Amino acid sequence: MAYFTRKPIAEIEAQAELGTHHLRRVLKTSDLILLGIGAIIGAGLFSITGIAAAHNAGPAIVLSFIIAACGCAFAGLCYSELASMIPVAGSAYTYAFATMGEFMAWIIGWDLILEYAVGAATVSISWSAYVVSLLEDFNIHLPEQIVASPWQCVVLKNGQKVCGLINIPAVLIVMAITGLLILGIRESTRINAIVVTIKVAIVLLFIGLGYSFIHPENYTPFIPPNTGEYGHFGWSGILRAAGIVFFAYIGFDMVSTAAQETINPQKSMPRGIIGSLIICTILYILFAHVLTGMVNYKELGVAAPVAVAVNQTPYWWFNWLTKAAILAGFTSVLLVLLYGQSRIFYCMARDHLIPPQFATIHPRFNTPYFSNIALMIFVSLFGAFAPISLVGNMTSIGTLLAFVIVCSAVIILRKTDPQLPRPFRTPWVPVVPLLGIGICLAMMVSLDIDSWIRLLVWLAIGLVIYFGYSRRHRTEMH
Ligand code: ALA
Repeated sequence: MAYFTRKPIAEIEAQAELGTHHLRRVLKTSDLILLGIGAIIGAGLFSITGIAAAHNAGPAIVLSFIIAACGCAFAGLCYSELASMIPVAGSAYTYAFATMGEFMAWIIGWDLILEYAVGAATVSISWSAYVVSLLEDFNIHLPEQIVASPWQCVVLKNGQKVCGLINIPAVLIVMAITGLLILGIRESTRINAIVVTIKVAIVLLFIGLGYSFIHPENYTPFIPPNTGEYGHFGWSGILRAAGIVFFAYIGFDMVSTAAQETINPQKSMPRGIIGSLIICTILYILFAHVLTGMVNYKELGVAAPVAVAVNQTPYWWFNWLTKAAILAGFTSVLLVLLYGQSRIFYCMARDHLIPPQFATIHPRFNTPYFSNIALMIFVSLFGAFAPISLVGNMTSIGTLLAFVIVCSAVIILRKTDPQLPRPFRTPWVPVVPLLGIGICLAMMVSLDIDSWIRLLVWLAIGLVIYFGYSRRHRTEMH
């Protein structure tokens, strides 16, 4: 059956060799770690942590971070094996093609749009909220109509209710980052390195300065009792919060999409993936602990929880400095998310599953500019008109599904192709992949029913396109 035709790894590598004429191998391990951190620390830490602490887990949000980190670590080990074995662009999409065949590859390629493109839209909306907040610190007020989606309404000081029309800052940032990506990866990673430094510095500064403003009574009760509703505090709340703050870890897997542009992917891939994950996990746990110690968790359910904590300190400069650094941090997340998605489109187009234009490389900049521009339009539409809660949870559930498939791919490939060289081997197979699958599924199940419905609708649309276009088109080409 053509649906289950796998793509031989030799063919994938041969294509990649051809591809290297276009995509240059310029990245080292340190670049990959920076790329990882650049993609990881963002809206998840600076916006979603406070919301999940306030509504689901309280100070026990640190336990949610640990649960989510375990799921990511197991999945990360699986990503590392596949990325070092199949070191080409396309990440989970390419691995699925090699292990489970065309149909599963399509499903995961389609699902990854939720992670990368819809994730980018989520961050662009959060970026817009922080820009508005920063400008307000300088007494510049932008009208609500042009900084929010039609679903967001606020009550002004005079009691008047105003709703948004279009989120213009979100659209502008997506356009700016797209321009940067079209200019080329070498230039982009250089800017990324600077931004990552600023971002990590502000997280460390927050942990260091905030530590002396912790009120120990904020930690009691550490696990607030369940309200009687699943997911609202208690242990079910910790699990749901894990599914929500999982968003904060999304990005380490992005490192694998740069395999084709990495100088020594066999060594650098696992180091880049696991290295960035470990650094971020430590920072997150400390950050969340300090945040919930400085401010009572009940007060953290706002768009900018970090600002609430910073206001507890006498350092006036810390407020706008933090916001500026957070904005820089969001910028690098967007950069890596949009980069990863354009490379996945590139691979899917080369396989004739989506129109060939998506694989067109710019003659001068050597970048898949058509993909970048198409993506810019798609992400901007979401950023301009969708509410953040909708896109945030869609991103988490879609990514968790991708992780489940990647963990399964490791088990399958060990059985079907045991002889293939594996420069990095996931330890204790099948235990580690099974643990990855189990924890990710538990986080998926803990999310609300609406997120599940959206995931299923998205996958259904994907199936219509697969049978309506991709399957037919691919048969014609072979
Ligand atoms: N992990 C990324 C963020 O927190 C997607 O924004």
